[in-house]
Amino acid sequence: MPRQARFALLAAESKRDSCDDVAVDPIYRPGVVPEPPELCHGQVLLRRWSYDDLPCIEEVSRDPVIPTGTTVPNPFSEEAGRAFVERQWGRFASGEGLVLAMAEAATGTATGMICLLHRQQPGVVGVGYFTVASCRRRSSARTSLSLLSRWALSLPGIVRLEALIQPENEGSIRVVESVGFHREGLLRRYLDLGTTRDDVFLYSLIQEDVDGFDPETRNIANLA
Ligand SMILES: CC(C)(COP(=O)(O)OP(=O)(O)OC[C@H]1O[C@@H](n2cnc3c(N)ncnc32)[C@H](O)[C@@H]1OP(=O)(O)O)[C@@H](O)C(=O)NCCC(=O)NCCS
Repeated sequence: MPRQARFALLAAESKRDSCDDVAVDPIYRPGVVPEPPELCHGQVLLRRWSYDDLPCIEEVSRDPVIPTGTTVPNPFSEEAGRAFVERQWGRFASGEGLVLAMAEAATGTATGMICLLHRQQPGVVGVGYFTVASCRRRSSARTSLSLLSRWALSLPGIVRLEALIQPENEGSIRVVESVGFHREGLLRRYLDLGTTRDDVFLYSLIQEDVDGFDPETRNIANLA
């Protein structure tokens, strides 16, 4: 993955609680996103993070990209892994948003992360996700995003989902477009990379996109 692609994750499970913050300030809206029901489709289950997920966190801590744009610990230790899990619980408790583990439905083994985090504008949440390297290209991210998006847009307080993706992140672009997100434009020099800034595509999903999307494409509409 290209150098800057690591920062696309800032739309997601960002370093917003750390001193090297390069993303937006957290927004707290307690109660707007409730504890979800069981979200499961096919091979994918979305659930709360657990201390049993340390092997997943350990694998992703070795990823060349993900730890630089998230609070995934690098280097990994059991203590740091547990702190990662507790941070995700804390985001829900504080009203910052919801960070779930993607897991294999059959075994419950965590294979990645997906989240919704409140934006400044009421009713708008940012989405983010990653899949551990050993589990990629199995539709985990697409199915997870379909499930979580559909549920989020059914909530009375959520009307719009956003994803910020760097133009070179072909995998992530493919994921959001296959779920029905619309590209709205290029935000020039949006991401603060410390010494430079990077452009990102802004994608969004609203209820009308979900209603009108073609179910033949394995998208959100046929995840009944
Ligand atoms: C991007 C990422 C989340 C994709 O996860 P994944 O579970 O492998 O994605 P899926 O298997 O659901 O793939 C969905 C589609 O994208 C395609 N795709 C996935 N990765 C791709 C890549 N690197 N290049 C091109 N296409 C890719 C798949 O082939 C599939 O296409 P299809 O609709 O034609 O079948 C994963 O590569 C990752 O975690 N990357 C690092 C973190 C990241 O970039 N997160 C997103 C930040 S915006």
